[in-house]
Order: sequence, then C-alpha cells, then structure tokens
Amino acid sequence: MKQNILITGGAGFIGSHVVRRFVRKYPEYHIVNVDKLTYAGNLENLKDIEDAKNYTFLRADICNLDDMREVMRKYEITGVIHLAAESHVDRSIRDPFVFAQTNVMGTLSMLQAAREYWESLPEGFDGKLFYHISTDEVYGALELTKPEGEPPYGDEFFVETRAYQPHSPYSASKASSDHFVRSYHDTYGMPTLVTNCSNNYGPFQFPEKLIPLFINNIRQGKELPVYGKGENVRDWLYVEDHAGAIDLIFHKGRPGDTYNIGGFNEWKNIDLIKVIIKTVDRLLGNPEGKSLSLIKYVTDRKGHDLRYAIDSTKLHDELGWEPSLQFEEGIERTVRWYLDNEEWMNRVTSGDYQKYYEEFYS
Ligand code: NAD
Ligand code: DAU
Repeated sequence: MKQNILITGGAGFIGSHVVRRFVRKYPEYHIVNVDKLTYAGNLENLKDIEDAKNYTFLRADICNLDDMREVMRKYEITGVIHLAAESHVDRSIRDPFVFAQTNVMGTLSMLQAAREYWESLPEGFDGKLFYHISTDEVYGALELTKPEGEPPYGDEFFVETRAYQPHSPYSASKASSDHFVRSYHDTYGMPTLVTNCSNNYGPFQFPEKLIPLFINNIRQGKELPVYGKGENVRDWLYVEDHAGAIDLIFHKGRPGDTYNIGGFNEWKNIDLIKVIIKTVDRLLGNPEGKSLSLIKYVTDRKGHDLRYAIDSTKLHDELGWEPSLQFEEGIERTVRWYLDNEEWMNRVTSGDYQKYYEEFYS
C-alpha cells in the first residue's frame, strides 16, 4: 500500500533526522512534515532534502485541530509519526503553560484529527498507525546507588512496565500526552504506538541542550554552567540510532505496544563534559585541558532528576534493534559537525534565543 506519512516536528532536532531518513530510504512514500517553526524548528536542518519529489513541508500548528483535519484529508495520511513538542526542561520550569498547550493539547488534536479521518474511510483503521515519540523522563528519576566506579551507576533501570512518575512540567506534559495516546487505542481501537527514548545527541540539536551548548561555549571561550555538582546521570544515544529505531518500530512494532529505546550508555554530567572539553580542545588545536577552566558550577536545576537509565532489552529481543555507533565515535562525529557548521550555529542562535540565554544566566 502507498504510504503517506505525516511527521510532526520534522524541522526540529530528532524530527529532521527522521524526515531525512524516510525521504531518502522510501522514495515510494510521500512524507509530509508539519512544523510550526518555533525557536527550536529550523528549515536549515533539512536543506539537503527540501526539493525531494516525495517530500512536502507545511508550516502549521499541531494545536489547530481544523488545520490538522485538513492535512489528514488532503494528503490522505496513512501513518503519523508525532514528534512536535516543546522539549527543553529548563524552559518548562520557567513557562509550563506552553508545554501543556503544545505537548498535551497538540497531541490530543493530532489524535482526534487522525481518528476522525481514518474512521471516515471504508477500511477504517486497517493499515494505519499513530506513532507517538516520547521520553524516558516520564518514568521519573532513578537512585544513584553505585556512584563510584564504572557505569551502571545504580541497580534499577527504566522498563516499559514501570509506573509513570514525572517530575518536571516538561515530563508531566509528555506523560499526559502518552496517556492520551493509549486512551485512543483502548477507547476507539485506534492503532497507536509509544516509544520512550533516552537523551539524544548529534548534529542539528538546538544549542540550549547540554552537548551543543557546551561545544559552542568552548569554541567562544564562554563559561560552561554545570548544574549542581555535575553528578546527575544521563543515558546518551546517537540521534541517527534513534531515527533507525523509529523506522524499525514504525514498520514492525506491535500496535498498542510500548518500547523503550536506549543504548545502555550512562554518563555522569561532569565526566561527559570533560570528554567534550577534551575533544573540542584537540580538534581546535588547543593545549590539552585548556578549556577545563571554563567549568562553572551554578545553582542546580529545580527538581533536577538524578539518574536516567533505559532498559531497551524488549526492543532488542523482539525486533532485533541495537545501536550502531559506539559513544566515542558518536561524540567525535558530533563535535566535528558543530565545529564545521559554525554558520548553522550562528543562524539558529541569533535573535530570540540569545535574549533567552542571557536572561537565564543573568
Ligand atoms: P526539538 O525541540 O528540537 O524540536 C521540536 C520541533 O517541534 C521543532 O521543530 C518545533 O518547531 C516543533 N513544534 C513545537 N511546537 C509545535 C507546534 N505547536 N506545532 C507544530 N510544530 C511544533 O525537539 P527534539 O529534541 O527533536 O524532540 C522531538 C521529540 O522527541 C519530542 O517529542 C521530545 O519530547 C522527544 N524526545 C526527545 C529526546 C531528546 O533527547 N531530544 C529524547 C527522547 C524523546
Ligand atoms: O531523557 C530524554 C530527555 O533528554 C528529552 O526528553 C528532553 O527533550 C531532552 O532535552 C533531554 O533532557 P535533559 O534535561 O536530560 O537534557 P539537557 O541537555 O537539558 O541536560 C542534560 C543534563 O545536563 C541534565 O542533567 C542537566 C545538565 N545541564 C544542562 C544544561 C543545559 C547542565 O549541567 N548545564 C546546562 O547548561
């Protein structure tokens, strides 16, 4: 069957990798990218595929139900991969309302538009899929029971059956959206899927997030604001491996189900920051350790989750997925990309973002 796939948030970090992958790998599909182009969405991220025959970009707001109904009908959408969201925890602490609006109401409007359109067809939900991209943050935080030595830094991992316990306004909004997605499956029989992924890194990530922010600051000789003691633990996955998992799950996943995605790759923030400093200094030809002096311990993030660690055994055992890239190679590629793409960095950080960043640290 011909697939017309609607990808929301395709101009953002992860979305742009998913759009690129689908446009290139499936020339027989029509890929429709709906994005509002907030501060985090940038068509610069998709320059290389913008003229592809099987690709359409629409600037629209997922919260506008009428517009989403029109997109579903006009493009005869058979599958939705929903990534559009407000995604930065610090912003959610400052302004939770926009997170509820986009992440909860926006997801609800996508679900409703898809349901109405698919129910109006003779075949109904047959061959359709609503795939919602979520985060490991909905599970809450894990204890740091083994803080010394090698990772893992604790005995527990996030598994798919774990009860949700979000802490930040961001993760609360994502948890709520996940529940709405499952409710459309359980109530209306709509084929839905949810995946919960760990921290992504790689090219095209907006430089408010730890890795690109710090690469950019080192390049400019600016301070590196480490929250608290830098002991929080995150589990990092290269973004193209996430896009690969999404591709696999979209085609082979069991509707109604949930899969965790992660690479068993825990890092304490401060250790990761030292790797970034070392890599940037080496690639810039600086003396080793030069930029360590930029580290500045600052007031901790409010409600800062201590440790995330994803168990993606189910995805491995059921669908055979595993990450393709070692972390050392992923971080080298990532640092190189940001250093080689200074123009991109300057363009996406001009204007509104610069103002936000300066206010945040004032
Ligand atoms: P991002 O902030 O880089 O991109 C979000 C995109 O959504 C942007 O292009 C933005 O313009 C668009 N958008 C925002 N509001 C919109 C609206 N109302 N209508 C249409 N488009 C809108 O985010 P990301 O890091 O690429 O994350 C994408 C998805 O993956 C999110 O749902 C996020 O919760 C999830 N996720 C992210 C990570 C991560 O590490 N970045 C990990 C797991 C899950
Ligand atoms: O776990 C998946 C989540 O990962 C996604 O759902 C989110 O969309 C994504 O933003 C990310 O959330 P984090 O809060 O973990 O990412 P962030 O890059 O903001 O921060 C990573 C860690 O680094 C976190 O412990 C906070 C810390 N940090 C972050 C920034 C921006 C600092 O110490 N200093 C900083 O300046």
